[in-house]
Amino acid sequence: MAQSAVAGAEGPGPAERRPAPFLLVVFGASGDLTRRKLVPALYSLDRKGLLPERFALVGVARRPLGDEAFRSGLQEGLRQFGGGEDWTWDRLRDQVFYFQSNYSDPASFRDLKALLDRLAKERGVGGNRLYYLATPPEAYAGITELLGAVGLGGDWGAGYSRIVVEKPFGRDLDTARELNHKMHSVFREEQIFRIDHYLGKETVQNILVFRLANGIFEPIWNRQYVDHVQISIAEGIGLEGRGLYYEESGALRDMMQNHLLQLLSLVAMEPPASFDAAAVRDEKVKLLHAIRPFDAHSALENVVRGQYTAGRVDGKPVPGYREESGVAPDSQTETFAACKLLIDNWRWAGVPFYVRTGKRLARRATEVAVVFRPAPHSAFRNTGTPALDPNELVLRIQPDEGIGLRFGAKVPGAAIRIQDVDMDFSYGKFGDERPEAYERLLLEAALGDSTLFTRRDEVEAAWALMTPVLQAWGRVDTPEGMSGGSVGNRQVALSPYPAGSWGPSQADELIARDGRAWRKP
Ligand code: BG6
Repeated sequence: MAQSAVAGAEGPGPAERRPAPFLLVVFGASGDLTRRKLVPALYSLDRKGLLPERFALVGVARRPLGDEAFRSGLQEGLRQFGGGEDWTWDRLRDQVFYFQSNYSDPASFRDLKALLDRLAKERGVGGNRLYYLATPPEAYAGITELLGAVGLGGDWGAGYSRIVVEKPFGRDLDTARELNHKMHSVFREEQIFRIDHYLGKETVQNILVFRLANGIFEPIWNRQYVDHVQISIAEGIGLEGRGLYYEESGALRDMMQNHLLQLLSLVAMEPPASFDAAAVRDEKVKLLHAIRPFDAHSALENVVRGQYTAGRVDGKPVPGYREESGVAPDSQTETFAACKLLIDNWRWAGVPFYVRTGKRLARRATEVAVVFRPAPHSAFRNTGTPALDPNELVLRIQPDEGIGLRFGAKVPGAAIRIQDVDMDFSYGKFGDERPEAYERLLLEAALGDSTLFTRRDEVEAAWALMTPVLQAWGRVDTPEGMSGGSVGNRQVALSPYPAGSWGPSQADELIARDGRAWRKP
């Protein structure tokens, strides 16, 4: 990350990454994200001296709440999610305020402006404003428009104004474009920070470090040496009370269009000339454009959609998706998606990338596995040694963060016997403390560095790739609502899998067609 020349940074030295004073305005502040993620992240930044002395948080939401009730709710959240009973937040508490608004009333935005102006003076935070959209996505465009209308958006001379936008950014290519267009009528691209929280994870940032800081891996990172790549985001959890949201979303929108494609971009992109926002994102976009697009036929051939039925996870019985609260008993929403992607460029021609994600799988595991081609000639073919497994490099993103390299080694003894062994690095080596993704992302937004956020063309390229799949599945919005898994009159099969398994058998078939198999993380 370009650390020095970033606007809004305060001085060099240990505090070189400490942002200048700013006001954080969170829309949707009574929601889960604020309590679970944002406030614990702010608190942790503060503990590390990475929050400026002069700082204020204004929570905006529909509920009638006062400052005190809002503060107590956040404090409770901190106890629950922030890391233990000893977490006190005396300093922060006084810098937190609440403002009630229905997000559509210009008068209330004028009052909000007055509050922000007053706090800027009273608290000495000056004119830097960071807006954070954590509302349901339907409200994004309206809030942005009103911020602009009352003079809170754009460039206003007294400091910066920036806007952080939570996912989902659009539901398909058209809606993402429309939202980009609306946001751009108020904010310049440099002011917009689209969140993909996977980019805030240490181990995700390490993908590029691993590739580019080590001379030995980049030369083999291509079609000459790599047979194929598997990227999995497996979750053991189900809906966690988010049935209504998930029904409208599904695995492809919820995870594949964003988190999985981000992982893929980092693994497969060309090395950027430098680690700054423009260079990194240019390469990611180029990569997304190089992925072979789907048409109606190839989408059905190469993408599997599944839905969990009742089963057992961690030894406990769990209900099927259709029995979850907020889910229709005949729901056609996919809770699992797997696909085969081809990248039509010089580096990766002919190397398939198999990616998958699902809820209620056997366990939580996110990993990138680079599977190498076999040795060109086996000198051991006359020794009775069975065919060797390929070398594999596995970047374990979470949990059990680390990197493993599998290779064959001679088993001690008079005969030649070869066995797979692992060389392993565990992130535990660096101690237990790893900043939460949101901590890092909030800090970067306050520093004005957008390397870890998705750019307009990037988010649209990802939707351009996935929208034909949604169309082929009949999962695009129509005036009557979502067409729920049908193409014309034809239902697109939704493959069931028992909770606690590794997904539907159709996903195994997808990769078995090419003579390969999924890893079991
Ligand atoms: C979110 C999805 O973006 O990512 C959730 O909406 C999912 O459905 C979550 O559970 C996974 O994030 P993490 O950081 O727990 O892997």
